[in-house]
Amino acid sequence: MRFRAVKVFHEDGRRASRMVTQGIDDLDPGEVLIKSKYAAVNFKDARAVCGVGNVVKRFPCIPGVEVSGAVAASTSPAFREGDMVTVQGGQEFGIRHDGAYGEYVRVPAAWVGRIPAGMDAFEAVALGLAAYTSAVAVEELIRLGITPDKGLIAVTGATGGCSSFAIDILAGLGYRVVASTGKPGEADYLKAIGAAQVIGRDAIATGPKPLEEQRWAGAIDAVGGAPLDALLRTMKKRGVVCAFGNAAGETFTTSIYPFILRSVSLVGINGNHPVSARGAAWTRMAPGGDLRPRHTHKIAYEIAFDELQAHCDKLIRSGVRGRAVVRMPG
Ligand SMILES: NC(=O)c1ccc[n+]([C@@H]2O[C@H](COP(=O)([O-])OP(=O)(O)OC[C@H]3O[C@@H](n4cnc5c(N)ncnc54)[C@H](OP(=O)(O)O)[C@@H]3O)[C@@H](O)[C@H]2O)c1
Repeated sequence: MRFRAVKVFHEDGRRASRMVTQGIDDLDPGEVLIKSKYAAVNFKDARAVCGVGNVVKRFPCIPGVEVSGAVAASTSPAFREGDMVTVQGGQEFGIRHDGAYGEYVRVPAAWVGRIPAGMDAFEAVALGLAAYTSAVAVEELIRLGITPDKGLIAVTGATGGCSSFAIDILAGLGYRVVASTGKPGEADYLKAIGAAQVIGRDAIATGPKPLEEQRWAGAIDAVGGAPLDALLRTMKKRGVVCAFGNAAGETFTTSIYPFILRSVSLVGINGNHPVSARGAAWTRMAPGGDLRPRHTHKIAYEIAFDELQAHCDKLIRSGVRGRAVVRMPG
């Protein structure tokens, strides 16, 4: 049997991806063979497909770190043909082991998770790492005492996949969310998914001082860099910033003053857990769960497999809104 996959190669000193046709035996080994139905596109995937940065660490390799589909064959007693499953995240899948962007995926059984009751194959990857990471950040805000009555919550990179779900989840819990975006034309979208207010990327802080006007009780930061410094300088006393992204930069410069004079906390969020190792935030997003996003179908949308490379290019060059989910052929 032959099938199509997007594969990243390292040739002539550069990384680049192309669509290939290959056989099952060309896939990395694993106990579970899955016929792919949907695969998500996040920031890291777009970089991998476009050959930007250092996401893929073995060549050639099929990128993509989130897929759902039906088990086509299994030598593991844990899964049977026809089971609806998902594989997401971890340190290998789509990085050192062939990933999501193939019509078939073959992985160790330990990486495979059943789709939670009430979710379908689309929703499992539409939410995926994006909503899960945001849900973990929201759990941290709550754990550290940031309840809706404490004040405004800022969310940066607001139109991105992760941040869109952060806004949706927070608004569903009764928080007043201020969405910071570089896409002012998307204000209506941001309000439709739950933002109470929309501001520009430069409007987080009112000035350049180490401590500026106290504005935010909490913040969820998807971008790092200078916006993260601006958030820290404008947090209220005992405010909490949950940071998980680097779209604006991997490093940032700040001062000690928000921490020692306002007792601000900066919490790093890692949501890159395989489904089998996920905490409660994953099931809290299933139907009936208190962290369930209410606007998944406004945030996530389908694209065709043939559109994947152009979509990744656009995401890297000019950004896109929300979260694309690739409808795999067949
Ligand atoms: N820690 C973890 O476990 C984890 C898990 C998932 C994702 N992440 C990270 O979280 C971040 C967001 O991921 P995603 O998949 O949601 O990406 P995404 O959909 O591309 O969203 C990123 C958003 O950041 C903003 N942005 C892009 N470039 C920027 C720049 N130069 N300066 C300021 N803002 C910029 C844009 O929003 P606006 O135009 O609205 O400002 C963009 O939509 C990425 O850095 C990703 O690697 C981390």
